[in-house]
Amino acid sequence: MSEPHPRTVVVLAAGEGKRMKSSLPKVLHPLLGRTLVGHVLNAADPLDAARTLVVVGHGAEQVRAHLAGTAPAATAVHQAEQLGTGHAVRIALEAAPEVTGTVVVLNGDVPLLRPETVVELVTAHESEGAAATVLAAEVPDPTGLGRIVRDAAGRLEQIVEQRDASPDQLAVREINAGIYAFDAARLRDVLGKLSTDNDQGEEYLTDVFKMLVSAGEPVGVHLAADHTETLGCNDRVELAALRRLLRDRVNERWMRAGVSLLDPETTWIDVTVALDRDAVVDQNTQLCGGSVVGSGAVVGPDVTLIDTVVGPGATVLRSHAVGAEVGPGASVGPYAYLRPDARLAERSKVGTFVEVKNSEIGVGSKVPHLTYVGDATIGEQSNIGAASVFVNYDGVRKHRTVIGSHARTGADNMFVAPVRVGDGAYTAAGSVIIEDVPSGAMGVARARQRNIDGWVLKRRAGTAAAEAAERALRGAQGAPAAASSASEGEAIHGTAESVGGAPGAGDTATE
Ligand code: UD1
Ligand code: MG
Repeated sequence: MSEPHPRTVVVLAAGEGKRMKSSLPKVLHPLLGRTLVGHVLNAADPLDAARTLVVVGHGAEQVRAHLAGTAPAATAVHQAEQLGTGHAVRIALEAAPEVTGTVVVLNGDVPLLRPETVVELVTAHESEGAAATVLAAEVPDPTGLGRIVRDAAGRLEQIVEQRDASPDQLAVREINAGIYAFDAARLRDVLGKLSTDNDQGEEYLTDVFKMLVSAGEPVGVHLAADHTETLGCNDRVELAALRRLLRDRVNERWMRAGVSLLDPETTWIDVTVALDRDAVVDQNTQLCGGSVVGSGAVVGPDVTLIDTVVGPGATVLRSHAVGAEVGPGASVGPYAYLRPDARLAERSKVGTFVEVKNSEIGVGSKVPHLTYVGDATIGEQSNIGAASVFVNYDGVRKHRTVIGSHARTGADNMFVAPVRVGDGAYTAAGSVIIEDVPSGAMGVARARQRNIDGWVLKRRAGTAAAEAAERALRGAQGAPAAASSASEGEAIHGTAESVGGAPGAGDTATE
């Protein structure tokens, strides 16, 4: 498709952002899933610009690295000294002498700008054949911003900075958003003639308008419908205010799309997250990065998901997950920690105080309590006993544990990797499993218990314990069966789930 107006986007991002008081350049501060400059580039995305130039200066290396990772099509142009917004655009166009058509300039610190608004501005500019068009907004408090000064007929006369404005001009509430469309040739003409005769001694891009007007060129003003889109960010208080505005905008969009947010004020969803209809997000929840929440899933309260996919119908309660996958109908938490490459299959369960890293938990398998699962593969319908550790690290290397399907491992097991437990195998509570357990076998790896009868009566005589023991023993003489323990042999106390037909007498159930 041939473009009548080839478009070039210029983003101004060389300023230091002194008032942020940060070692991070202002435009790299994060805001719900993107950096400030990332939001601005995203707003310009539908313009299908032939070229995107980003003027960098302060923290140039960091900004360049960020662009290389997130907007590789953009070219950084270096502005060694920040001599003003006009100077910045001049440098950009000097670096791209072939540019003709429409030049769209965006301040790098206006992150709430909507793509639709940028498109409207540029479309109006191009269809009117204007030399320059500025995006303006009516704001409640114009302090610090450039004012749109119109003549008696309502036509743009000039843009005046706060510090150069007369009292009359200061009363104007129509401000310059710092977003513009220009005709490249006419912009180049006047950029070379900018003066620094102003309060800051800078080349003001805004002076281009006054110069074009006096040359009789047509200039336009495009008023933004929603003034919050034009808010800039100069310090961290403003950044926090922008974050709240963006949160509300994102949350409203998801609620209108059929997602239930039980407490929108404490729900923070990055712009990069996706949710399906009938997902439910409970209070105090952050959904970040590339996270996805499927239909009918319930996430929260008190959940943080980072780059984590939650399948339809799953639940995640009071938990933290990074780079994990929670399958359909699976259940996580309360108080679980899912780390990168934790993959939970359909209907599996990771319960309370359980940490999982780089492991697959098969369909319907459960890790209910107090357990670390690292570098493991667990088959289907298996149950891992409470308080177990997958001992994956020998101090130098990581090793894998493989647990088969329909396995039942006892409470308080250590699986010293590399090790395998076969399909349908059991392990006894308190076992340190260092050798493979074949399918169908019971792995027992613990010292046998020895009871020293009467030890307390003899060695702790006179204590409350000794007295209690005496009373119990006296009582037991009347009822001899009560004190006898399970017979030795195959009394393997232990799987963490109450399993029908579990081995041995007195099986301790922990679920
Ligand atoms: C600018 C406008 C003002 C407008 C406001 C909107 C001018 C002279 N004034 O003021 O009318 O209301 O934006 O937010 O343009 N930058 C560079 N190189 C420089 C100077 C600035 O890249 O030499 C970049 C900054 O990093 C920033 C943007 O340009 O992203 C705007 O600069 P800033 O100093 O914030 O201008 P304002 O005083 O806010
Ligand atoms: Mg500014």
